Amino acid sequence: MTDTPAPTPAGTPTGTSTAEDPLRAHAEDAWADELAALAASDDRPRPAQWRLSPWAVTTYLLGGTLPDGTEISPKYLGQRRIIEVAVATLATDRALLLLGVPGTAKTWVSEHLAAAISGSSTLVVQGTAGTPEESLRYGWNYARLLAEGPSREALVPSPVMRAMETGAVVRIEELTRIPADVQDALISILSEKHLPVPELDTEVQARHGFNVIATANNRDKGVNDLSSALKRRFNTVVLPLPDSHAQEVEIVRTRVTALGASLRLPADLSELAEIDRVVTIFRELRSGVTADRRTTVKSPSATLSTAEAISVMASGLSLAAHFGDGVVRADDVAAGLVGAIVKDPVQDRLVWEEYLEAVVKDRREWADLYRACRELG
Ligand SMILES: Nc1ncnc2c1ncn2[C@@H]1O[C@H](COP(=O)(O)OP(=O)(O)O)[C@@H](O)[C@H]1O
Ligand SMILES: [Mg+2]
Repeated sequence: MTDTPAPTPAGTPTGTSTAEDPLRAHAEDAWADELAALAASDDRPRPAQWRLSPWAVTTYLLGGTLPDGTEISPKYLGQRRIIEVAVATLATDRALLLLGVPGTAKTWVSEHLAAAISGSSTLVVQGTAGTPEESLRYGWNYARLLAEGPSREALVPSPVMRAMETGAVVRIEELTRIPADVQDALISILSEKHLPVPELDTEVQARHGFNVIATANNRDKGVNDLSSALKRRFNTVVLPLPDSHAQEVEIVRTRVTALGASLRLPADLSELAEIDRVVTIFRELRSGVTADRRTTVKSPSATLSTAEAISVMASGLSLAAHFGDGVVRADDVAAGLVGAIVKDPVQDRLVWEEYLEAVVKDRREWADLYRACRELG
């Protein structure tokens, strides 16, 4: 049996995939080739324990061409300065907080930063209302603890503790969802850079290279707002929604092309028309006014971020590949579109109906989309 390699469009991970063929490889594996090429050509000073210089980390995130001609694909599409400030922060003793509305690539950027700086993006704590202090400090293997008493072998280090010991970057996702008293465990770790283990009468000291990248959703404001003591230990970098229509189309196109390739969907997305329409609809519903500024529209309760536009297009790609003729058309995106917009069956349904009748119906070249949405009932 032969495996014909699928074509790899721009922005597609180029690294050799592992034998297990994971559904979603870690950034450091998926982009291993790019990271190796950057390390080889990087002659700028590297902070202690960093795999790459700050310049090379920035190039990895934003893309570029190396002196030997290797192309580095852009991971983040947006302002260069945002990434420079984030990388520069991590080279100091201050931690980095990526803040923004859902779908602005906070998780994506933090994963790539950790992969480029420490060679691993896998030290991560997922913040929820139920995150216990053990997830930030350490816990115990109770069988061993009972059998042998407290010992280093019975201790279960958290990702934060492992990052301190190895001098690596640890990621804390959705920091503001973590209960305030649990968050406080971070204050002494970030200010003193050591973690006491009184049960063993010892402490873990952070090695050079240790730092924290936290993400937080500014819609969650008020859930568990960061205490001012903790805020002082972070530099905040806000990731904005894409500036322009063209930039948002480009983000969606790049990500959906890469997703389609990794899911091996034999569908054609070279036709940008459908992406263009989905992005137009999302931007109009988000801003409350049509692109020509003539008609005001109501906004639905759902967050219509770039990430949702990517999902709508990815499901359209799958429908086109498996049930259509391989080209993404209006009836392939209609169901995903309505599903993303109508989250509340009453309020959002009204908002969507109004938009459909007042805006979509009036655009003559959108007749196919209007029909496809109407047919959904
Ligand atoms: N500016 C951008 N550049 C590149 N990709 C982006 C951008 N904005 C959003 N994305 C894409 O959106 C998706 C969702 O991002 P994610 O990191 O999960 O968002 P967040 O953590 O902010 O909610 C990712 O696949 C990411 O590639
Ligand atoms: Mg996230």
